[in-house]
Amino acid sequence: MAKVRTAYVCQSCGAQFPQWRGQCGSCQEWNTLQEEIIDSAASAAKGSSRIMSQVLKQPVAIGSVAKDHNERYILDDAEFNRVLGGGMVQGSVVLLGGSPGVGKSTLSLQTALELKLKVAYVSGEESEQQIAMRAERLGSKNPDLMLVPETQTQAILEHLKNIKPGLVVVDSIQTLHSNLLEAAPGSVSQIRQTAAELTQYAKSTNTPLLLIGHITKEGQLAGPKVLEHMVDTVLQFEGDRNYNYRILRALKNRFGPTSEIGIYEMRRGGLHQVQNPSEMLLSERDEAFSGVAVAATLEGNRPLLVEIQALVSSAVYGNPQRSATGFDLRRMNMLLAVLEKRCGFKLGIKDVFLNVTGGLRISDPATDLAVACAVLSSSEDLPIDHRFCFAAEVGLTGEIRPVNQLEQRIQEAEKLGFKRIFISSYARIDKASRGIEVIPCAKIEDTFQHLFS
Ligand code: TYD
Ligand code: MG
Repeated sequence: MAKVRTAYVCQSCGAQFPQWRGQCGSCQEWNTLQEEIIDSAASAAKGSSRIMSQVLKQPVAIGSVAKDHNERYILDDAEFNRVLGGGMVQGSVVLLGGSPGVGKSTLSLQTALELKLKVAYVSGEESEQQIAMRAERLGSKNPDLMLVPETQTQAILEHLKNIKPGLVVVDSIQTLHSNLLEAAPGSVSQIRQTAAELTQYAKSTNTPLLLIGHITKEGQLAGPKVLEHMVDTVLQFEGDRNYNYRILRALKNRFGPTSEIGIYEMRRGGLHQVQNPSEMLLSERDEAFSGVAVAATLEGNRPLLVEIQALVSSAVYGNPQRSATGFDLRRMNMLLAVLEKRCGFKLGIKDVFLNVTGGLRISDPATDLAVACAVLSSSEDLPIDHRFCFAAEVGLTGEIRPVNQLEQRIQEAEKLGFKRIFISSYARIDKASRGIEVIPCAKIEDTFQHLFS
């Protein structure tokens, strides 16, 4: 092993210390020291030749750069392909993050099993038996899937040299360690170092690399932010513990857009692609209940119809309670204030509970109108026809504002058999004949008049 010199480097000011300490002696920041490689004997020896090669690299005109068309593996999984921007680019490094139990290992193993390629599956999390059992459960078989039960990067790279895989999966980056550092696996410096070594391998051999990463309680990828800068693509796998569907989202993609999402359902036999998410999210009912309104929202670029449920009741205690699940509470309070001020409904003395069904979290402003209508429907105990839906933002003056990609929302609502969609009268849409009635509204009162009178 080459002799390596490490030091503790302050991540804030860059000062170096031979030993760890809680406070940086230079900038007085706390907990900023990380162990880093300063110099290795090997690289010192190569120093002079490195400078030579640096000198030899000539600037090139952009037009004369050979463009290697990023070849992609088209995966069996259409949702995964879409999120990656049309397949997995060779030599790319993809980081897949998500909270424990969401299905990262299942998705990766499933993807690896469906490929007709040699895959190296590096696992520091589960034993070979556990992985084999899971593979059996997932049904499909790739005889060329090689399990590498190793967590030390130098050994892993040695194995990869022999296996020569077409794809490398690492579950997870937090379990790996490099023998160049003494820090414990999962520490910031280890994550950075091991990711750098594997990325170097992926780039030099043009092999795609799928890294699984854990997410902290705060929803951040555990490990340094720098990891997100090192990789080409950052994917996040989300889902609610109590529901079966999962959403795969691109947070960063050097090879495609980040607006696409993939939707899966976790079943007994693994993750299944969901082609028609709205159907799954709308509850089956023939009868209209008060307090329910359907919003035509967008998740990524996909239109999604979701049910908003509201319950408004007289406050029993002095302070009215406000609670929102899946919707921003401050936004709900703002909408309640608009209803009170502009439409004269006395909601200030009521408890208001709001729920987006299916455990979804919605941040699309186009949900505003559905939220306002659900609240009023509950407050007045007047049901809204269950074949009506809403797609508009509500402004502070009570005006109904247009939202983006309205055409797609209308089409999705029509496809699902909705009869009416309420939108802003300021929205510009095609005057096509449709199977759904489009109701333009200028003010929130217009919508209520239409619904409840
Ligand atoms: P897992 O992939 O281990 O999650 P992660 O790697 O993100 O921690 O997923 C674990 C969950 O998935 C577990 O609670 C069981 C469930 N599951 C199924 O419902 N069906 C299946 O076929 C498999 C393999 C897992
Ligand atoms: Mg796992």
